[in-house]
Amino acid sequence: MPDKLLILPGDGIGPEVMTEVRKVIDWFAAEKGLAFEVEEDLVGGAAYDVHGKPLADETMEKAQAADAVLLGAVGGPKYDKLDFSVKPERGLLRLRKEMDLFANLRPAVCFDALADFSSLKKDVIGGLDIMIVRELTSGVYFGEPRGIFKEGNERVGINTQRYTEGEIARVARSAFELARARNNKVCSMEKANVMESGILWRDVVQEVHDAEYPDVELTHMYADAGGMQLVRWPKQFDVIVTDNLFGDMLSDVAAMLTGSLGMLPSASLGLPMANGRPKALYEPVHGSAPDIAGTGKANPIACILSFGMALRYSFGKLDEAALLERAIDAVLADGKRTADLMQAGDKQPVSTSEMGDAIVAKLGEL
Ligand code: NAI
Ligand code: MG
Repeated sequence: MPDKLLILPGDGIGPEVMTEVRKVIDWFAAEKGLAFEVEEDLVGGAAYDVHGKPLADETMEKAQAADAVLLGAVGGPKYDKLDFSVKPERGLLRLRKEMDLFANLRPAVCFDALADFSSLKKDVIGGLDIMIVRELTSGVYFGEPRGIFKEGNERVGINTQRYTEGEIARVARSAFELARARNNKVCSMEKANVMESGILWRDVVQEVHDAEYPDVELTHMYADAGGMQLVRWPKQFDVIVTDNLFGDMLSDVAAMLTGSLGMLPSASLGLPMANGRPKALYEPVHGSAPDIAGTGKANPIACILSFGMALRYSFGKLDEAALLERAIDAVLADGKRTADLMQAGDKQPVSTSEMGDAIVAKLGEL
């Protein structure tokens, strides 16, 4: 049976970068015999324009039935004034919520060709390849009570950090499974020194480890110290697992170790489906970039690497995923750069479609 892939290009540069992903998918189908059943649909503002809401029910059903969903980006100035209930972002939130995507995977990888690009020293980031697993569906962004209340004669803003054992255990399992497929090392980050939820987090991660993954090396670190260590010597880590709030910040910090927003993929995974594969949504970290939409300046690599993560985590095509990453590194090493990757002394930037073509051509050469 062909793997079912649902593609949701979305808004702004979303459709532009997705066009380049389609070239890569077509190459793998033609040259490596990967059979995909690809379907495309609307999300975000594009869906609002047609359906009056940012994700139609039929699209939600297709997402639930797919082996993987690949999304471009949503949003843009045209939709900024819409009511909150139909804003483009709500389409993405609905996907995450109804597919119950609780584990957000954000890799921080330094491509050899870009080792000079970061503001950090080459020996600190050269060869870097770490993965941050952020809990995505609970914690302080969702806990009740929440709101702005009157207390005496002043206002008080309240959010509640709340985690159940089950929520911690399942994201811990995602991290340990990943670690087994990588370098067998997990560092869990929380603030057990000052937060009850942090104490529970540390205990549950340790319990899941001892009972189910004793072969994986587990360490614990306070999240603030973890942030410091990520910048000081990131290569000490392999898989980091942390909660929603700390993960939001730590994954942004880790992302910038290596360069441009145009290079960053992500995956959000849920529980295994009947076929044993996790529910999965893959998307670049960047948004719809209205400032460059329609100019051919968008870097398609973040979205292409998101497809690469789908090859690896949904379709089990590890060799093909590695080949794709090598092709991207080789194209960058040839000096081909989109505008966001230009450095002093570089030649003319290449366009979105030239970058896609160059990656496909390189796949054929490797
Ligand atoms: P953004 O990520 O769209 O853009 C930030 C900056 O990075 C811009 O200068 C943009 O030109 C540049 N950039 C982003 N992706 C790039 C790429 N692939 N190649 C080259 N340059 C790139 O974030 P911003 O400007 O805060 O938000 C724009 C819109 O996107 C808003 O409507 C926002 O709500 C939405 N958004 C959507 C997300 C999603 O769909 N997951 C995530 C973040 C923002
Ligand atoms: Mg963030």
